[in-house]
Amino acid sequence: MRKKIAAANWKMNLTIQEGKELVHSILKEVQSIPEGKEIIFAVPFPYITEIESQIKGHQNTSVAAQNISNLKAGAYTGEVCGFMLQSIETKYVIIGHSERRMYFHETNEVIKSKVDLALEYTIAPLFCCGEPLEIRESGSQNEFVYKQIEESLFHLDIDNIQKVVIAYEPIWAIGTGLTASSEQAQEMHAAIRALLASKYGHEIAGNISILYGGSVKANNATELFSMKDVDGGLVGGASLNAAEFSAIVKAL
Ligand code: PGA
Repeated sequence: MRKKIAAANWKMNLTIQEGKELVHSILKEVQSIPEGKEIIFAVPFPYITEIESQIKGHQNTSVAAQNISNLKAGAYTGEVCGFMLQSIETKYVIIGHSERRMYFHETNEVIKSKVDLALEYTIAPLFCCGEPLEIRESGSQNEFVYKQIEESLFHLDIDNIQKVVIAYEPIWAIGTGLTASSEQAQEMHAAIRALLASKYGHEIAGNISILYGGSVKANNATELFSMKDVDGGLVGGASLNAAEFSAIVKAL
């Protein structure tokens, strides 16, 4: 179901002590999260269970993994797979983040397998898409993003597609301090929703949350989130600061 979401992507930062302190401060600041809104903490694998216990009792607050193996189980040293995440009740998993596409060479095909395995183990994919700077400059960003979505999500049926949360993250805006303008974000979000509608119909497309990611901060969140098709944010840098992230949650 479509919700307003503030998702914190800690990436490879923070000790468990720092992470718990951060969550503590944020939960104290934002108090209760009403129905129709959600906070997600995407934390490193070794912290998942501990942060899950910490948020217990806080409604509409969840934990996400930052990755899932594209392999089901077995002799793959170092991998973490779907049934493991399911067994510790992980609700979401980030899939297709540009850093994984770039540094770990994840293709649309690999990402598709990850989406399938997450859904098989009842974990909701937080699916990231977005174009690099040269594609934006050439004006072909829509086609680029459509291909990512079509090749990794469009095999899903009507039930499963509605379990996916999409995050549009233009790569040129990630960690750079450059943000897409609220008009640029809205334009792409509307285009993504129209693409989903062309495949699944308007009602289904209207049920899917589409988050914006890329240098979301306390001082630009309100404007970004006020756009019709922007259902919240996937936040990196600013999610490591309690005051910043709490303000972003309040902007939902
Ligand atoms: P950023 O990262 O907020 O630091 O730009 C966003 C992301 O990579 O999810």
